[in-house]
Amino acid sequence: MTVPTLTGPATGAPGGTPSRPALGAQLLRRKPIAQMVSEAENNAGGPRLVRSFGVLQLTMISVGATLGTGILVILGESVPLAGPAIWISFAIAGLAALLSAVSYAEMAGMVPVAGSSYSYTYATMGEGMAWICGWCLVLEYAVSVAAVAVGAGQYVNETLAVFGSVLPDAVSQPPGDGGLVNIPAMVIVVLATILLVRGAKESAWINTSIVVVKVGILLFFCAVAFTAFNAGNFEPLLPMGAAGVSAAASRVFFSYIGFDAASTAGEEARNPKRDLPRAIMLSMLIVTTIYVLVAVAAIGARPWGWFDGTEAALVKILEETTGQPWIALVFAVGAVLAIASIVLTVLYGQTRILMSMSRDGLIPSIFGRVSRRTGTPVAGTLLVGTAVALTAGLVPLGALADATSIGTLFAFALVNVAVIYLRRTRPELERTFRVPLFPLTPILGAAMCAYLMANLGADTWVVFAVWMLVGVAAYFGYGRRNSRVAAMSNEEYRELSGPQRPTQQTPETTKAETP
Ligand code: ALA
Repeated sequence: MTVPTLTGPATGAPGGTPSRPALGAQLLRRKPIAQMVSEAENNAGGPRLVRSFGVLQLTMISVGATLGTGILVILGESVPLAGPAIWISFAIAGLAALLSAVSYAEMAGMVPVAGSSYSYTYATMGEGMAWICGWCLVLEYAVSVAAVAVGAGQYVNETLAVFGSVLPDAVSQPPGDGGLVNIPAMVIVVLATILLVRGAKESAWINTSIVVVKVGILLFFCAVAFTAFNAGNFEPLLPMGAAGVSAAASRVFFSYIGFDAASTAGEEARNPKRDLPRAIMLSMLIVTTIYVLVAVAAIGARPWGWFDGTEAALVKILEETTGQPWIALVFAVGAVLAIASIVLTVLYGQTRILMSMSRDGLIPSIFGRVSRRTGTPVAGTLLVGTAVALTAGLVPLGALADATSIGTLFAFALVNVAVIYLRRTRPELERTFRVPLFPLTPILGAAMCAYLMANLGADTWVVFAVWMLVGVAAYFGYGRRNSRVAAMSNEEYRELSGPQRPTQQTPETTKAETP
């Protein structure tokens, strides 16, 4: 079966008269998987992304997007919530992320396109949920990256302080946090944007180098902190009870956000079906091991009460244990680099997700245009980079940053549901990775996400609700009217959708639908 690519205006009827399904039917209309895979290959007849990534770069994209502020800053802030059991909180949050990661791995091996969970949801739960998921991903990617970049100002100052000078608050803090504009945060975002415009391959190699440095400084921290290890610091293990450990788990979940970034690189991977699942699982393994190690090393080095009110706890432990102030310099430089690689990889992921959404007509087509010269979505990257740079420079992101976790957890829950749905409706599709212990694993994965969402504060829920309302307004203002899947005629839609139940399969359609 030849799969046509939808390129024209979103009008289903001849003569250009829009003919859309009724609202309910449109919201539930699923994007045919064959269509997705075909579009990824053709990019609407225009230049397509260049396939250059192997499993190493893909793993580094996920580790690059994940390892950073969570372990460098939030670890110290969360110890007072959980006590010495903070490492258990990291393990719980890691388990929630891991359960979802295996679902991501199955979906990414089956639908290796650029849209990550947005595309998986479109294929399974229809346009309405896909839009909500895509909108949550903007929280997970663009908003979180702005929040992460905001922290850069502090680390740049820590680095400069070693040389006896610091940037004034006016140029290193946003309005509302005592400054006018956060210049370091903006500079990091602008540099990452320039790199991404130049080429994905170049960006990936720079990211890989930075990841080696940031893993190196965290392992160095562990090596130093273990020399001051005192097993007595772990007694009593649960001074704040199980509730404290749970609350801290929701808080530190932020540290795991980003492991899914490799799933936005499906169209730039050389062998996505084989390598995406491997990269996602490998990055989770690396990140969880490092987090638990760092948490155990930190608590072993200092009693948990010491962390209350201590800023930059990891740097202080290094300084006090070695007696060498230059260590702070090395660590702060590493931290700035860590933040830079998160900005680079997460901006990358956001542009690729928006590319998928624009291909579907749900957002303007400018986000989907790939430059012939660089093989990257230049216009979309510049737009996203500018918006993120302005947000990072001018907005104090406290409440919004918390909301990134809730949006991410929601998107993860949807991926777990998508796995269950497709196993039931499309068992014949080729799966290069299969979730073990199905259906227990995705059910537990979705339940863990719901549990961590429930633990987040009322303020966070309010911000989330407002964000979703804006998203619904945007859908009705643009997406509903321009959706390409909604503009397909019923015949075309049925033909592309293939068998929805195993009993209806024919050998021909099964073959055509296997991406
Ligand atoms: N996981 C990312 C971090 O910890 C967002 O900074």
